[in-house]
Amino acid sequence: MNSLNPVYRIEEQFFDAIVDHEGPMRKAELCARVAEALDGVDLRPEVMRLYPHELSGGMKQRVCIAIGMILSPQLIIADEPTSALDVITQRQVMSTLDTVQRRIGAAMILIGHDIGLMAQSVNELMVMRNGRVEERGPIRRVFRRPDAAYTRELIRSVPSLDARPKDSPRPLAEPSAPLLPLEGVSKVYGRTIFRPGATALHPMTLRLPGDRASIVSVVGQSGSGKTTLGQIALGLLAPTAGRTIFEGRDLAQLRGREQRAFRRAVQAVFQDPYSSFNPFYKVDHGFIVPLRRLGLPRIAANSGRGSRKLVPRSGWTRRCSAVFRTNFPAGSGSA
Ligand SMILES: Nc1ncnc2c1ncn2[C@@H]1O[C@H](COP(=O)(O)OP(=O)(O)OP(=O)(O)O)[C@@H](O)[C@H]1O
Ligand SMILES: [Mg+2]
Repeated sequence: MNSLNPVYRIEEQFFDAIVDHEGPMRKAELCARVAEALDGVDLRPEVMRLYPHELSGGMKQRVCIAIGMILSPQLIIADEPTSALDVITQRQVMSTLDTVQRRIGAAMILIGHDIGLMAQSVNELMVMRNGRVEERGPIRRVFRRPDAAYTRELIRSVPSLDARPKDSPRPLAEPSAPLLPLEGVSKVYGRTIFRPGATALHPMTLRLPGDRASIVSVVGQSGSGKTTLGQIALGLLAPTAGRTIFEGRDLAQLRGREQRAFRRAVQAVFQDPYSSFNPFYKVDHGFIVPLRRLGLPRIAANSGRGSRKLVPRSGWTRRCSAVFRTNFPAGSGSA
């Protein structure tokens, strides 16, 4: 997703690849090629006129796949091509990759962590752990008779609803009013006096119960408005209509101390770990700055004591806190 250049329209990112390898071409021909490639990953041709920030996470990932395929390569090495996608789009992308692979008649290396998804799409599986190959073989054999204990663990960890404990949400000792209600919020992107814009979120209302510790999941196809909803709830995006209420006040009205109280009470884990960090800072900067801003005693925050308490909780070793963020694999960014 981050291989897209934020200052160029999507079409220009394709043009570069085509012209570099196949020589100059008429614009109409280039556009037709791009439209075809986008269609191959189930994106509308209009997408080519947009900038990367105007696409959802999954749409960006599909654009990257389309760029990888536009030159009909002999080998595709796809590194987690479906990790930001919903299950329906995952299947579509996997079947698109499959079709392309058949068309070009060559090999594909599919790197990923979803063993269930791989099982349905690939011929052979190679399982890695700590830099070593733990197991390798035809997918059916590996699933039926895994040799390595680690592979057995991976297969067992594929989620199933039966395995879930049937507990209902815990009642809270101190019930409160519904948390962070979203009242009729909606979002239209790109509306101007000349253009009607595109509706990403139709008016909707959501109230999290204040008397139970419940977990609410929002699922939906790529581009269905999930991140837009999350960003409105976080106050990072102003809704076109409607309000988000925090402790009886409209989020848009909060300033100064009240706004800091909100920032402390409601925290985010972003979809794209790469773009949520500043690459110039070491990892512990991300821990220390919020501690300082939210009023932890200056000395504790400065000395890094606060961050050292937190780092082990996220499953990292202390050494990690002094390493630059760019040295981490994508999955650890969201810890
Ligand atoms: N900054 C923006 N400007 C214009 N359009 C946008 C912007 N951000 C998102 N959109 C559009 O809004 C729609 C919803 O996007 P959103 O990111 O909320 O989807 P999503 O459900 O989170 O998708 P995904 O599962 O792919 O992450 C998409 O059609 C997208 O193109
Ligand atoms: Mg999203």
